[in-house]
This record gives sequence, C-alpha cells and structure tokens, in this order.
Amino acid sequence: MKRVFTLAAALLSALGLYAQEVISTKSTTMVLEAEKGHELRILYYGTKLSDEEIASLKDAGYRTQRAYPAYGLINTEEAALAVTHSDGNMTLQLQVSDINEDTWEGGKLITITSKDTHYPFVVKSVYKTYDEQDMIGTWTEITNGEKKPVVLTRYFSGVLPVRVDDVYVSHLYGTWANEGRVCTEPLTRGYKLIKNLDGTRNSHTSHAEVMISLDGKPQENSGRVIGAALCWPGNYELAFHTTDEDFHHFLAGICPDNAAYTLESKETFVTPELALTYSEQGLSGVSRNYHHWGRKYKLAHGDKERKILLNSWEGVYFDINEPGMAQMMEDIASMGGELFVMDDGWFGDKYPRLVDNSSLGDWVVDKNKLPHGIGWLVKTASEKGVKFGIWIEPEMANSVSELYEKHPEWVIKASNRDIVTGRGGTQLVLDMSNPAVQDYVVKIVDDIMGENPDIDYIKWDANMPFSAHGSQYLKNQSHLHIEYWRGFVNACDRIRAKYPDLTIQCCASGGGRANWGALPWFDEFWVSDNTDALQRIYMQWGTSYFFPAMAMAAHISATPNHTVFRTTSLKYRIDVAMSARLGMEIQPKNMTEEEKALCRNAISEYKMIRPIVQFGDIYRLVSPYDDHGFASMMHVASDKQKAVFYWWKIANFYDEHFPRVRMAGLDPEKQYTIKELNRIDLKPLPYEGKSFTGKFLMENGLEIPATNEPEYSKKTDWSSRVLYLEAK
Ligand code: DGJ
Repeated sequence: MKRVFTLAAALLSALGLYAQEVISTKSTTMVLEAEKGHELRILYYGTKLSDEEIASLKDAGYRTQRAYPAYGLINTEEAALAVTHSDGNMTLQLQVSDINEDTWEGGKLITITSKDTHYPFVVKSVYKTYDEQDMIGTWTEITNGEKKPVVLTRYFSGVLPVRVDDVYVSHLYGTWANEGRVCTEPLTRGYKLIKNLDGTRNSHTSHAEVMISLDGKPQENSGRVIGAALCWPGNYELAFHTTDEDFHHFLAGICPDNAAYTLESKETFVTPELALTYSEQGLSGVSRNYHHWGRKYKLAHGDKERKILLNSWEGVYFDINEPGMAQMMEDIASMGGELFVMDDGWFGDKYPRLVDNSSLGDWVVDKNKLPHGIGWLVKTASEKGVKFGIWIEPEMANSVSELYEKHPEWVIKASNRDIVTGRGGTQLVLDMSNPAVQDYVVKIVDDIMGENPDIDYIKWDANMPFSAHGSQYLKNQSHLHIEYWRGFVNACDRIRAKYPDLTIQCCASGGGRANWGALPWFDEFWVSDNTDALQRIYMQWGTSYFFPAMAMAAHISATPNHTVFRTTSLKYRIDVAMSARLGMEIQPKNMTEEEKALCRNAISEYKMIRPIVQFGDIYRLVSPYDDHGFASMMHVASDKQKAVFYWWKIANFYDEHFPRVRMAGLDPEKQYTIKELNRIDLKPLPYEGKSFTGKFLMENGLEIPATNEPEYSKKTDWSSRVLYLEAK
C-alpha cells in the first residue's frame, strides 16, 4: 500500500501536478507546498509522518503558511525578504518555478526556485537534510537578474510557523563573564526579538539559537521541542511575530540594521544556514541532535579527543618569562596534562605588551621576556612531555603598535571621524573586508607556524566590538557587516587548508563566539572568562543546549576566584570542569602537593571518561535554574555501556533534603557498576562497586548524600559527586 502511494506521488510530482514537497530525516518530516505559479508555503514540521498521514494533513484541517514571505503585496506579517529595485519599486511577488532534488552523503539537497512575476529576480530556497542527526539546514540564494543593482533591506535565512498553543521559548542571554544563561518564557502574542549588535562577537548578550517547546513548560527528557540555530558569526535577528491568528511566525537571519546590501546585476547573495531540528525527547533531545550534527559536520576535528591543557592567563596574566613558562609546563606535565598554552603578553618589539594597552598587531616575540624565542618554548614543552600552544588576537590592533603606525588605513573607522578605541584605551578592530588585511591575518599564522611547525594549538581571541562604523576599504559602507565575515571566512579557509591538524580555540572575551557560524574552523571555544565553578554550572548548562561538551573549554582555576572572588573547594571546581573539555587555568606553583595530587588523580580519571564526555550523549536531569539547591546531569556513551553522572550542590543550608535524581539515557536491561570519581570522602558511598540495572537507576535513582565527608578540617560548604557507571 505504502509503495503504491509513493509511486503515485512520484508520478504526480513528475507531472508537476503534485505540489507537496516532503523533506524528511530519520525521525522528522517537513512538508512544503511548492505549486508552480504560486508562492512557496509550509504545511507541517514535526514528528515523522507516513505517506498516508502526509496525504491527509489537509483533510485534518491543517493550513499552509508562507515559507519565505517577501515584502510588497501582502504586508501584514513580518517579511523575510525586502528589496528596493533600481526603479524604486519596493515589492516582490515570488512564485515557484522549479524544484530540484539532489543527494549528498548525509541526505538530500532540495532547491525550490521562485521567480518574481515582473522583475528578473530569483530566490532559491534550499533545504539540506542531515538525515541521521534529524537536522534540516535551510537558507536562500538570492539572485539579481536585473540590469541594475537591487538593494536588499532584509534578507533572512528562513521562516518557521509554530502553531499557537502552550508554547515556550528557551534562549540564552548574558554578558561578559556571565554567558549562556538560560531564559525560558511563554511565547505570547506580539513581538519577541532576540538580536545582537556587537559586530565581532555575537554570543555574549544573547545567542543565535532558540528552543521552542510545544508541550508547555519545557522538560529536559520529554516533550516536543523544535531547535533553531542560525549559523552566522555576525549580528543576527531571531524574531517571533504573533498577531491575532493561529500561528507564531519565527524568522531568523542576519540583522539587517545598518547592513543594507546592494546586489549588483547578476550577483547572488547566499544567506547563512538556519539549522532546524525537532525532538520528542525534550530539551536534551534537541541538544543531542545539535551535538551529533555539530561534531560530525560543523566542528573542526569533531571526531578527535581534546587534550587536557594548562592555560597561562589566570596563572600569570602578562607576566611571561622563560623560567615561568618552563615551570608551568613541568607542572602540568607532572599532573598528567598534555598541552601548555601561553596566553597574552608574549609579543611586541618596539611596543612590548606589558599590559593590555599596546602591541596587538606586532606578532613578534618580546625578546626581553623570551630571549630564546618561541622555538625554545616549543622544544622545552616537548622535553617536559607536553605540546605547546600560543595565544593570538589576529583581527585586532592597538593604536600603540608598529602595525597601526604602518597601516592606519587597515582599521575599522568612519571617514571624517576619529578612531573609537576599546580595551586598554587603544584597541581597534582590523577591517577584515580588506583583502590585504586577510592576507596579513593568514601571514600571522604562517609566520608562527612556519618557524615552529610543532605548535599544536592556537588560542584565537577577539576582544572588541565594531565601533565608529566604517571601512576605509569598502565603497559601500553598509556592506561592512557582511564583508567583514566574508573576509574572516576567507582567512580561516586558507589557514585551515594549510594547517588542517592544528587545534584552534575560538575565544572572544570569553564566550563571545559560541555560534555554529564561527565554529567550523575551530575545535572548541572558551565558555567564559568567569571560571567560578558555581556560576560555570549555570553557564555550562545553558551552553550545552546547543554545543557539545568536547567544544566547551572548562578550566580548574584558583580561589578566591579572580572574577567573583568566591572560594569553592578544589573538588567542586574539578567536578564542574570535568563535565566539559577539562583544562586548568591556575598557577600550579601556588598549589599545595595535596591539591596537585587531587588534580593528578582527576586528570587520570578524566582520561578514562574522556570518550564518554566528549563523544557521548547528554541527558540533563535537574536544572540549576529550577532552584532545587542542586543540579545534575549525565553523559552516556552511545552504546550505553558507560556513563558519567554529575551532581553539584548550588546552595548550602543545614539539614537539607534533596530528592533522589532519576537517571536517564541508560539501557534498562544492563547492569551498571558504580564507581565514585574524585573521591575525597573518608568512607566510600554505600553503592561503591555495587551494580544496579539501568531500569532501577532510571526509575528510582541513587541517594546522593547532601555533603562530602572528608576529615573534619577539610570540610567546606561545597559538595559535589561524579559517578562513573560501567555495564558488565
Ligand atoms: C580574553 C580571553 O577571554 C582571556 O581568556 C584571555 O585570553 C585574555 N583575553 C587575554 O588578553
């Protein structure tokens, strides 16, 4: 029956009579209505449907919505595309003219071409399926076939109607040192706008990703949830528009503010990909889809384990010198670490980088600090048994630098205006739209790597937004927000082509570039400059909504914490950092032997669980945002043989009574043996070495004592547990 239906549908479709375009992945279906001579519309997105169910959607009363509304003839809903033709006409009337279906290794590539009824203006709506990961990437390719330029005033990537119901939106917001905070709110009528205007860093104040929960207040492991992630490293807009009707209209794309784009005759503008996913397994289900997809298709080296490193920043800041670096290398090696990264402060000749007010742009070693150069550091690291990494901030300059003296025309600056400086009172953003700047950025990496091919890791930082909007290179100033990123991509592509194995961290004043548009050239990102373990629980929780643990750099740092001045126990700091890509951000010379021993043990235990943390599936269990006094989550290996369970107390009161946490993601039939990691308690937990079925652990769970119980003098107000589960 099914086969007969499919054949009939294919036949009708071949005849151009059957207008439905079904886009499906392993467990999801999207149905478009692409009738030639009509506007492209969307009928359905959600749970996978059978052919018969798809055929009866209309019988069920389902109605289509505009899939890519263009401004002009019907203007009561938000437009995804708005243009001004060269004759001043501001309308578009797009009608489907062609449908093309192709395959690629991960799924299908469906292109629906729509043409304007009067002007030779063409929009291709592309839908790329990532079948296994249940992801549908969508974008548009906009071509001006007119003889004269057309100005694009809005050019969104995609649109999704969401049926009005008990719908909630979860999105991330924050600021420097408080990135990735979760905000969950009901989607009401009116407008909701999530937007970023920074220019160079787009995930401090808000994020270009959202989760849309369809079954009321979101649950972590149940309920229908749609995920949407705009893969664009620059300014963006995610908008929800709901009038007095049955649908919320969700639009996502590049922020059009101050970014009108003049499309020359015959030029095509490609909008960034909007990655949509859907899960019936709650927020964590959507996260797992993004993690699977990100590791396979977006993140550099998503199939390789990340090294355990010591980064020098919070340990020594700008106080770089050879004995100091060698000591840190030795210390991290002695604790079992695999990489040492020298952060800011190593460069500058005429203007040595002593604090943050000079030298960006002068990427030559400061011979006063490092008389034997980078080569000596790489060699010393190798002798100590670790790899070497180095910090750069290639897209930036200081007005106090030899680079700026030589190339003042390379910085972003409005004509007839003075420069507007940032960090240190002298920082400036280089104009990546200028090909000469792109060459220069590639050369920075070339020079460092050419002299020192054994460098294993680069920390690529970016610490300033656009200011004094203006390019001294571009003719059209409103193209800056686009051309900057085209230049960035050009430089990154060239660097990656030449150094495919290099590990590169994407850092931008902490977590300013956690975005799937920035990450394809990077292996990981720095979640936040705030390394306080308590606040990290909240930030890492939110960040894990869209990004996998292997990409989230989480470092054990000193106390009192350098940002919030909180003192937490070392075990607590370790237990939080271990839930992502573990590293250290500390001066080991100031640690006691006992503290070093605890870290040595943690590093060794992390090595055991690393494949589970970095390649496993996330199941968030109890949210810190729900104020239960603790938070808990798990990573489970894909074959469900092994898992790691985390439990962190987030508030401390005497005589507390926490509920048992029911685990998730395990195989109910398997028998799991429990081992506590990073143990500091005098007595083992009652279940140490004991086995339980996955069914029992998921239906009932283990009792987690409210406090750690080390010897009396070592008790603190911070308690946490990491349990390793292994099936027989
Ligand atoms: C900002 C980064 O987020 C920090 O980790 C550090 O690298 C500093 N920049 C160095 O200036």
